[in-house]
Amino acid sequence: MMRILNVVGARPNLMKIAPLLSEMSHYPDIEPLLVHTGQHYDKNMSGVFFDELGIPTPDYHLNVGSGSHGWQMAQMILGLEPLFQELKPNGVVVVGDVNSTLAGALVASQLQIPLAHVEAGLRSFDRSMPEEVNRILTDAVADYFFTTEESANENLRREGVAEDKLFFVGSVMIDTLLANREQAIAEMDPLVHGVNPKDYALVTLHRPSNVDSSEVLSGILEAIDFLQEHLPVLFTLHPRTRKQLQRWGLWETVQAMRNVTLLEPLSYRTFVGLMGQARLILSDSSGMQEETTVLGVPSLVLRNNIERPVTVKQGSCRVVGNSPEGIIAAIEDFLQKGAQRGTCPKLWDGKAAQRIVKILHSCFCASSSKIERIVCP
Ligand code: UD1
Repeated sequence: MMRILNVVGARPNLMKIAPLLSEMSHYPDIEPLLVHTGQHYDKNMSGVFFDELGIPTPDYHLNVGSGSHGWQMAQMILGLEPLFQELKPNGVVVVGDVNSTLAGALVASQLQIPLAHVEAGLRSFDRSMPEEVNRILTDAVADYFFTTEESANENLRREGVAEDKLFFVGSVMIDTLLANREQAIAEMDPLVHGVNPKDYALVTLHRPSNVDSSEVLSGILEAIDFLQEHLPVLFTLHPRTRKQLQRWGLWETVQAMRNVTLLEPLSYRTFVGLMGQARLILSDSSGMQEETTVLGVPSLVLRNNIERPVTVKQGSCRVVGNSPEGIIAAIEDFLQKGAQRGTCPKLWDGKAAQRIVKILHSCFCASSSKIERIVCP
C-alpha cells in the first residue's frame, strides 16, 4: 500500500483537496489519509464544505485555531511532526498557499518525506502578502510541482526546478467547480436574497491589505456605496472582515447602504450559484479569479498585483487596485462598456486531479526508498 498524507486547514484548501481524495480512492493500492490543522474551524468556514463536497471526515484533526502567523505555524508544526513520524507516509500532498500548506511542507521536508505541492509556482512578487511567502517557501522544499498555468512553469524554471519534477496539469479548484456548477446554479434562486439573476454585484473581501487598515477599508466602502447606486450588492462577510468593520467603526456605514445585503460566509454550492448568476463580481480572493474566469463572469480584482496572470490575459478579470478612485473608475467603465467574458485557460477541463494522482502514484512509489531515512523518536 502507498500511504499518502493530505494536509488541509483553511477554506480554500477544501475545494482543492476534494477531487484529489476522490481520485485517490479509485486506486486500490493508495491509502489516502487526511489531516486538518484546524486553521479554519467555524462550521461555515470548514464543516459545510466537507458535507457538500463529499470530503471524508479527517483522519486527524489538530484543532489549532486562530492566532498570529508565527503562533499558528508553530502549533501546526508541533502537531504535524509526531503525526508524520508515526504514520511514515510514502508522500505528503499540500495544496495552495495558506499557513497550513507551509506547515505541512516544512514538516515533510525536515523528515525527508517526498512532498508534492499542488498549485505550485504562482508568484505575485509581493512579499508583503503572507501567501506569497508561503508559496515561495513551500516550493523551496517541494519535490514535485503541479502547476495550473504557464506563468507558474516559467517561475519555477527560473527558480531552478528540474523539468522532470514539473507537471503542468490544470487546476483542481476548477475540477470541483465544473463538477458542481450546473447543480449550484440550478439550485440557487438569487431572489431569496432579494435580487434578480444577472442583475446584481457580488462582493467579497478578506485580505489583510484591504481590511486591516481603516483608511483602505473605508475607501473600498466608498466604492461599494457608488456601486450600490447602480446595482444591488450582495456582500458576503469573511469573519476577519466583519471583525475589522466593527473595529474601525464602519459597521453602521455599511449597514446604512440601502442596496447592500450583508451575508454570512456561504456554503460552496450556494456561493457558486450566486457567482454564476452575478452581473459583476468585486473581490480580493485569488481562487475566485480562476472561478470567475471559467464562469465567464466579469470580475474586478481589488488588489495591486496578482499571481494568476492567465485570469487577466485570457479570463474575465481586471486588476483595479484598492483605491476608491480606481475601483469607481473601473465600475463606471464596466457599466458603460461591459466587459469581455474571456476564454477558458489550457487544461482547466475538470481532469487535473486525474492527471495528478496518476503522476503521484509513480513518483511516490519510485521515491519510497527515501522513507527509510526517517528517524522515529
Ligand atoms: C486564510 C489564508 C488566505 C485565504 C483565506 C480564506 C493564510 C495566511 N491566509 O486567511 O490565504 O484566502 O484563509 O478564508 O493562511 N476566523 C474565524 N473563524 C474561522 C477562521 C478564522 O472567525 O473559522 C477569524 C479569526 O478571527 C482569525 C481570522 O478570521 O483570526 C483570520 O483567519 P486566518 O486563518 O488567520 O486567515 P484568513 O484571513 O482566513
